[in-house]
Amino acid sequence: MNHQLIERAAGDILKSKKTIAFTGAGISVESGIPDFRSAEGLWQKYDPEEYAHIHAFHSNPDKVWRMLKDMFTLVMTAKPNPAHIGLAELERMGLLSSVITQNVDGLHQAAGNKNVIEFHGTHRTLSCLTCAKTVDGTSLKMEDLPARCPHCLSLLKPDVVFFGEPIPWQAQAYSFKESKSCSAVLVVGTSAIVYPAASIPIMAKEQGATVIEINMEPTPLTGSVSDYLISGSAGKIIPAIVEEVKRRGGKKAEILQS
Ligand code: APR
Repeated sequence: MNHQLIERAAGDILKSKKTIAFTGAGISVESGIPDFRSAEGLWQKYDPEEYAHIHAFHSNPDKVWRMLKDMFTLVMTAKPNPAHIGLAELERMGLLSSVITQNVDGLHQAAGNKNVIEFHGTHRTLSCLTCAKTVDGTSLKMEDLPARCPHCLSLLKPDVVFFGEPIPWQAQAYSFKESKSCSAVLVVGTSAIVYPAASIPIMAKEQGATVIEINMEPTPLTGSVSDYLISGSAGKIIPAIVEEVKRRGGKKAEILQS
């Protein structure tokens, strides 16, 4: 782990007037949920065109539920890891304004973050495409999957954003507002290739924010949008940054009067 960059990130967070986090599946890998595009990722097992597109759900919901069941089985039992917990600590210290996540696992909220924007929806509720009822998914057990509508028995669709579906407009509006008004963004565990989500760090950069990337490997942001990449696992890097922030007193640096 690059300790110089850990110290640099802690300094950037302390002098930032407003810091946000933008997270992807990589932050939940250490909670036992595979990401999508790494060697062990979900898309190595299931072709997203066949399983994660809204047209696939409409034409063959049973087949799509086979992938969803695989994913939900892990999500339902997953716990926040030190990376999620570190971001919650930063929020509690008044050093993190919001977490914009592409993940649907609810682990940022479980770790204690209050201001979480779910850009790609949530697994916690499901909708019936036949009678439009919304069903609470938090009490579902593995044996209840695939989930059926209690009113008309159609297969329910989790309120996660499938390819070909629009981003929930409130999530998009609030995320863009946050990225356009922040002075630093922590980009954690994302391949940064799916849009419009991947435009969030770009919009932040365009208005002068410092972009701090934390990822196992370089991404299309690295070397162009990101100010620097701290390579390695989020579960180790984020706690190290939080420790360094605390060591420096954990208070926002006095905004130097220019
Ligand atoms: N720590 C840090 N980074 C990690 C870790 C880890 N422990 N494990 C994996 N990564 C990195 C991978 O190297 C990869 O660059 O996290 C990134 C995960 O990328 P993806 O699997 O593409 O996940 P994500 O970026 O969230 O995908 C975006 O695509 O399929 C859709 O809707 C889905 O929200 C998802 C979107």
